[in-house]
Amino acid sequence: MTGKAKKKVDSLIDKYEGERSALISILQDIQSEYNWLPQEAITEVARKLDIPLIDVYGAATFFRQFSLKPRGKHLVTVCLGTACHVRGGPRIVGEVERRLNVRPSETTKNKRFTLETVNCLGCCAIGPIMVIDGEYYGGMTTTKVKQILKNYR
Ligand code: FES
Repeated sequence: MTGKAKKKVDSLIDKYEGERSALISILQDIQSEYNWLPQEAITEVARKLDIPLIDVYGAATFFRQFSLKPRGKHLVTVCLGTACHVRGGPRIVGEVERRLNVRPSETTKNKRFTLETVNCLGCCAIGPIMVIDGEYYGGMTTTKVKQILKNYR
């Protein structure tokens, strides 16, 4: 992590005045700044809050919103739970893969998109579902994939 990046992380942590209970908020701030949690940032959080590194990692891996791998600017999530699967979820994943040239868990070369799949988002009735940056798109079709992705380019 460069000196500038370390300064940025320090300022995000300092905002909470060393309050250990702010751990999740701090991780959220770092995640939204970088789209992921760099290892050096996690180490810095542990050091400054005086929390064991393993506990910070524990929090970072517990919540799906956090990523320990670099993520693109936009996170595309396609549901492959049973209900979405039978309604064509795999076709939606295939279309996103084809259009963005990535496989699940991968990020496009230009760092704009990361694709991931999940097993049920809890709203099976509107499946198949695709989510981009928290925005839910139900009743997905391959044609809709093209139209929706265009809005995030
Ligand atoms: S299976 Fe996709 S939301 Fe439940």
